[in-house]
Amino acid sequence: MTVILTTSPGFGKYGRVPHRLQELGWELIRCVDTSKPDGGVSDHIARADYMVVGLVPVTDAMLDGATKLKAVLKHGVGVDNIDIPACTARGLPVANTPGANADAVAELAIGMMLCLARNIPGGHSSVVTGGWDRRVGSQIGGKVLGIVGLGNIGRSLARMAHGLGMQVIATDPYADKAFAAANQIELVELDALLSRADYVSLHVFGGAGNASLVDAEKLALMKPTACLLNLARGEVVDLDALAAALHQNRLGGAAIDAYVSEPPDISHPIFSHPHVVFMPHSGADTLEATENVGLMNIADIEELMVGGRPRRVLNPEVFGA
Ligand SMILES: NC(=O)c1ccc[n+]([C@@H]2O[C@H](COP(=O)([O-])OP(=O)(O)OC[C@H]3O[C@@H](n4cnc5c(N)ncnc54)[C@H](O)[C@@H]3O)[C@@H](O)[C@H]2O)c1
Repeated sequence: MTVILTTSPGFGKYGRVPHRLQELGWELIRCVDTSKPDGGVSDHIARADYMVVGLVPVTDAMLDGATKLKAVLKHGVGVDNIDIPACTARGLPVANTPGANADAVAELAIGMMLCLARNIPGGHSSVVTGGWDRRVGSQIGGKVLGIVGLGNIGRSLARMAHGLGMQVIATDPYADKAFAAANQIELVELDALLSRADYVSLHVFGGAGNASLVDAEKLALMKPTACLLNLARGEVVDLDALAAALHQNRLGGAAIDAYVSEPPDISHPIFSHPHVVFMPHSGADTLEATENVGLMNIADIEELMVGGRPRRVLNPEVFGA
């Protein structure tokens, strides 16, 4: 029997995915024990044929015990937690699911922007605590949204923002220029985007190359009324610099869904600022996205089982020429 080990809490639970797994007769081992750094993988890795990965790191040492493993599949997009060279050295293909959760993340970005613009979390807590704290917010229609990273999520967000009447500018060295032109998105350099945008939304991949992409110097370019949204990866923003900018009123607000360590240490000064909205890395957590991603993982495994290739392989060299 084919054995799938997953570290993703959402894999195999939603929509048609559980039924499909049952039809295929595959055994699913869940390693989602948050009290263990590897989620409990080390106890079961020797039995796994395929690993469907959430946010737990896939390390060289972990793979030492993976004697039957044939491939590593990301339940989502960001593969910064997977040691791809270590997988390649063992001949293991690494595949992800591009676009499958893009609309979910983009919708959350819109939701967090509205929370900031209209103080929805503050209004909610005022009512449920017996208060009546009415505040005058602002509308996002007519404002400038700066998208950093015009990939699947960035493009989805751009379309939604246009629907809400926002003006969209973007930066991405590999931007699809035809898409940008067709959707009235002005492509600019990062510094220009930061100085012009009312909302800056980060949708780049994580990892060393983008660590502290937005640091104190970059934050200083933003308008004092502007808001920064990070639904990408924690390391992309210098959190100390962001907290300092907010506490010194050099920035209007922020929305954060991704953290360097998860859950984060809430003694950090960012967590005491009233104009920051937090979510527990939930960008992709919709029924629709988890179903899309799970079905794509399963289709990729089926493809591998008949000697084919998944739709997006991050280390195609494992297949030879
Ligand atoms: N919050 C969540 O739950 C959640 C869910 C899914 C993905 N993500 C994160 O969002 C990231 C983007 O996802 P996607 O599906 O859009 O990926 P994608 O690969 O389609 O797009 C990423 C884009 O970022 C661009 N980019 C990379 N570095 C850049 C930089 N320094 N400046 C400008 N552009 C840069 C790339 O050229 C690419 O076009 C993922 O890598 C992941 O880290 C978060």
